[in-house]
Amino acid sequence: MIKLERQTQVDPRLRSFPVDGGAPRKLHLRRTIFVAELVLLLLFFSILSFAARKNPIEATADSIAKGQVTYKKNCQMCHGEKGMGDGPAGQRLNPRPRDFTDKSKMEKMTDEEMFKDITKGEGPMPAFEHKLSETDRWHVINYVRTFATGETK
Ligand code: HEC
Repeated sequence: MIKLERQTQVDPRLRSFPVDGGAPRKLHLRRTIFVAELVLLLLFFSILSFAARKNPIEATADSIAKGQVTYKKNCQMCHGEKGMGDGPAGQRLNPRPRDFTDKSKMEKMTDEEMFKDITKGEGPMPAFEHKLSETDRWHVINYVRTFATGETK
């Protein structure tokens, strides 16, 4: 009798940890779920912000034509009629405007990067944040792309 009683007694220090290990495992699982939720949330927001920054306007003939009008008025004096960075106002600038017909360099530049440069300005280039609507900035990017690709659709 006495022997049996002894066996069922649990060391008070161990009482918070059930012998079957149930609680610690549950805690571990909860932590794993929490981390997984965080990762998913982060993934969700990065996809969302990435999607939001993509060029929302397809490079249709209409878009390119609109971009050309904007370009002739606002960009050509520096970037040149053929986009070679040889406009009359561009030749005295340092650095000189980039050659938009340079395929390998243009391929490395994303629409989003161009959008940022046009919006905020870059070096001697002025910002167009308040001069052109967002839509017009995307149209002009679609037009600028045609210097390297030759595609005018
Ligand atoms: C005052 C002259 C000037 C005007 C006007 C101007 N740009 Fe620029 N632009 C520049 C120069 C100079 C650079 C190069 C800046 C640098 O490399 O730091 C540049 C850079 C850029 C870039 C980034 C490419 C790069 O070299 O990193 C884009 C895209 C661009 N311009 C598009 C435009 C568009 C579109 C317009 C018209 C809406 C415009 N620019 C008007 C002078 C101008």
